[in-house]
Amino acid sequence: MPVGKVISTQDSPSPTFFAFAIAKGGKVHKDQFIKVKTEEGTMLAMVDNIIKTNRYYARAETVVDAENLEGLFPVEDWEFLIGQATPIGVLADNLVRRPTLPPSPGEGVEEMEPGLLARFLGFKPNGINLGQVIHHEVPVRLSLTRMFQKHVAILAMSGAGKSYLTAVLLEELLSRQQKDGRVATVVFDVHGEYAAFAEKPPADCQDFSNRAVAVRQIRIPAASLSAGEIALFLPGMTPVQQMELNEVVRSMEGSRYTFKELAEVVQGSKIKPQTKAALSRGLMNLHMTGLFGSEEQLTAKREGEKAETYRLRDLLVPGQALIFDLSGHIDTKRKQIIALWAAKQIFRLRRQAEIPPVIMFVEEAHNFIPEGVSRELAPAKSIFRTIAREGRKFLCSLVVISQRPIKLDTTVLSQCNTHIIMRITNPYDKDHIGKGSEGITVRTLNSLTTLQVGEALITGEAVRCPIFMRVRLRTSWEKKATDMETDAVAYENSMARESKKLEAVNDAFL
Ligand SMILES: Nc1ncnc2c1ncn2[C@@H]1O[C@H](COP(=O)(O)OP(=O)(O)OP(=O)(O)O)[C@@H](O)[C@H]1O
Ligand SMILES: [Mg+2]
Repeated sequence: MPVGKVISTQDSPSPTFFAFAIAKGGKVHKDQFIKVKTEEGTMLAMVDNIIKTNRYYARAETVVDAENLEGLFPVEDWEFLIGQATPIGVLADNLVRRPTLPPSPGEGVEEMEPGLLARFLGFKPNGINLGQVIHHEVPVRLSLTRMFQKHVAILAMSGAGKSYLTAVLLEELLSRQQKDGRVATVVFDVHGEYAAFAEKPPADCQDFSNRAVAVRQIRIPAASLSAGEIALFLPGMTPVQQMELNEVVRSMEGSRYTFKELAEVVQGSKIKPQTKAALSRGLMNLHMTGLFGSEEQLTAKREGEKAETYRLRDLLVPGQALIFDLSGHIDTKRKQIIALWAAKQIFRLRRQAEIPPVIMFVEEAHNFIPEGVSRELAPAKSIFRTIAREGRKFLCSLVVISQRPIKLDTTVLSQCNTHIIMRITNPYDKDHIGKGSEGITVRTLNSLTTLQVGEALITGEAVRCPIFMRVRLRTSWEKKATDMETDAVAYENSMARESKKLEAVNDAFL
């Protein structure tokens, strides 16, 4: 059914822009998709803006001087809605092409049927279902390859719904069938938000516990690290110290050891006293972190069960998630060390095709991969940069998640070919996103400040044109943080119980 008609203005219709008068009662919204016939085929366009006009109110003197004339004229009948639309493609012979001819003035503008829109946007029946296109009953089903092969960035201000969307993505990845292609998933979970995937959920939530392992403790095998890799954990090491360490590590080749034992070997060697002292101090510092040992050991513990230990490789399995719960590590350096070691191993294993294609989620990515911060302060940055540059060849993908895109390394961000952007109000972050995201117009960029929690703009490789969408509801268990009121009441209640107990003890003594 037509919702309007193309109108002729000074510079439109053109192949890149047209305006249309919306029929009385026609339901058209900003960010909605519409279609119109052209000589080339069916043109799909997105409504960028809607303007209300009324010639009665067009001149100031009419509005100010003749207030009482309103009753004499059919003012309401003169109100019209004008839609402004940007053509996205034309469908002809089952192919979507770039429009090169405009629709004709007077041509009827129609709503898009869900099936046609899904086809136009390139959605796949077995794609990743993130939610629904805004104003349309069309599920957003993105092709796994087009979305992840060239990395993804999820960017938004705090509280906009990034982690919720990430959980939806995890659900999708963990629910895939073998025939549709399953990948191994790794999450660097800074706040322990995704660890619930590995727990038995309440009855009304979907159970992913047999497909997820949340690792809380890790022992990196000291002997698996070259002197160069150890130097990454010990920023500030001089070239001389690194050279000497290299000699010591090579002399120990084939044996297992802890960094404490390596420090003892350094102590017993003929290295100059100053270098020796610095080296063994560094190695002992690493030993004291508790993150290194003689054996590789990843420890996971489900509530009410006993702890289990694994090797990294055992947990990189198709259709399963390995969640590094980093919430217990307050020191950022420890988080960096874990991420650095794990990402390096995963990339190595993937290059050697020893593990399935892998997708790595990096929460708070601006802390692991910060812009303009030295290697000393961000040792994990170099491996993530390497994966961003080379990962696509080996099907090792990154999903970087950040509430401060301006602080995120531009090399990594520029390698993310799909951007999912949610509500963002900081003008600097908005500008930064505008510069880094392809196909975003100024008007689209300005819409970002008006997005609601759970709404997102997807742009880049995964979609044919930028689309606004609403993220679907989670099926997995969302362990909600308690709010301030609940926590405050619980605190006072527990204090009251404590003081009652004390009173009882005092009474017993009196
Ligand atoms: N699509 C959604 N549907 C329903 N609730 C949502 C949706 N997205 C987010 N929320 C709710 O909004 C709140 C904030 O979401 P979330 O934790 O995902 O934000 P965030 O962007 O990750 O914030 P931060 O940057 O602080 O980590 C949560 O309570 C979450 O349940
Ligand atoms: Mg979050």
